[in-house]
Formats: sequence, C-alpha cells, structure tokens
Amino acid sequence: MLVCIPDVLTPDEVAYCRKVLDGAGWVDGKVTAGEQSAKAKYNLQVPEHSDESKELGQIVLKALGRNPTFTSAALPLRVYPPLFNRYDKGMNFHAHVDNAIRALPGTGFRIRTDVSSTLFLSDPEDYDGGELVIQDTYGTQTVKLPAGHMVVYPSTSLHSVNPVTRGSRWASFFWSQSLVKDDSKRALLYNFDLSIIETRKALPDDHPAVLGLTATYHNLVRQWAEI
Ligand code: NI
Repeated sequence: MLVCIPDVLTPDEVAYCRKVLDGAGWVDGKVTAGEQSAKAKYNLQVPEHSDESKELGQIVLKALGRNPTFTSAALPLRVYPPLFNRYDKGMNFHAHVDNAIRALPGTGFRIRTDVSSTLFLSDPEDYDGGELVIQDTYGTQTVKLPAGHMVVYPSTSLHSVNPVTRGSRWASFFWSQSLVKDDSKRALLYNFDLSIIETRKALPDDHPAVLGLTATYHNLVRQWAEI
C-alpha cells in the first residue's frame, strides 16, 4: 500500500530545513547503502551523526508525531532517525530493495524496515526528473510531491529514483518498524480506520455501529501487533 500524506511539514519548517541543509557537509550517499544498492546509488547525503541530521531529524519526528495519517498507515513501533539526501543534475538511484535490518552505528538501535518514507523538501518545479518510482502490488507508481509532503510505502517494494535532468531534488527519508509487519494487514487496518472516520462523521460517537467498528479495529490491532 502506498499512501501520500500532504503537509507533513509546514512551509516554515521546510524553509528552515533547507536553510540548515544548505550549510551541511554533503557526502557520497553510498555510505548508508548495502552492497548491491551501493552499485546502484548516485546521490549525496548529510552524514547521519552530524548536528544537522540530528536537529532536522527531530523536526521530522515531531511532525510525524502530530500526523494521524502517518500513525494509521505505518502503525510505527520504532522510527529510524531521518536521513537527508539530494540528487543534483545527473544523479539517480537504480532499482533496489532497502536492507531488511538497519542498525544505527555506535548505538544499540536496530530496526526491521517495514515501511519506507520519503519526505520531499524541494518543490516539483525546482527540478526535472527525480521521480520516485515504486513497484507496488497494484503496478508501478511514480511519485513526485510538493515540498513538505510525504509518501509512505512498503519497504519490500523494488524502487528507484529517476535521473535529475535540471535543478536539485532534496528530501528526507527514513524507515519504520511497524507494529504490523505484513503490508496487506496494515492496508486492511488503514482502510478500516478511514471507514471509521467516515462513519463517525455520519453518526454520533455513542452509536452502536461506531462502538462496534472501533472495538473491532482495536481488537484486530491486538491480534496482529508485535511489540
Ligand atoms: Ni531505497
């Protein structure tokens, strides 16, 4: 399941992130790539232990915490500290699958990557190319969103970034370990949650249908969640 979430960051937060990233020390993106993907990856990243990554990562994590759509779609148990990358003219990332397990060097932090997220920090008119291409269960999806918007997709997907032919594409990306590792179960819960939201608009909160659906949602999460 692929979900696009608008306005994860405010325009002010995007502008601040871009200002800090402008002064950051960018390095070759191969530093966080696995063996196969290192051969496929041509981009720049901000080092994950840098002050810039840490500060901006906190802004992104805070934004995720206030976003009910991210919570409902990803059902996050743990989120890897957000990373920041950029594709200048001529850069791209060929098709690959991200590593299943991600460990933060020098810490005991380790997650299984269930859900991948890309939070766009450049507006589409600032660059040509640079689309994120995701091979989803329902076919190939091409994603290019306004700055501050984010796409969430299963980490099991083969994905690539098309070559940038003009300008520069900046983004934050990160992985989440989900309470529910199976994407099809997560998709059911997400659609269930959306239906409950619609039902609550039409019926009072103490209506038996609202109570029953809400109870069933939570009991399904209880059945499927792994903590
Ligand atoms: Ni990737």
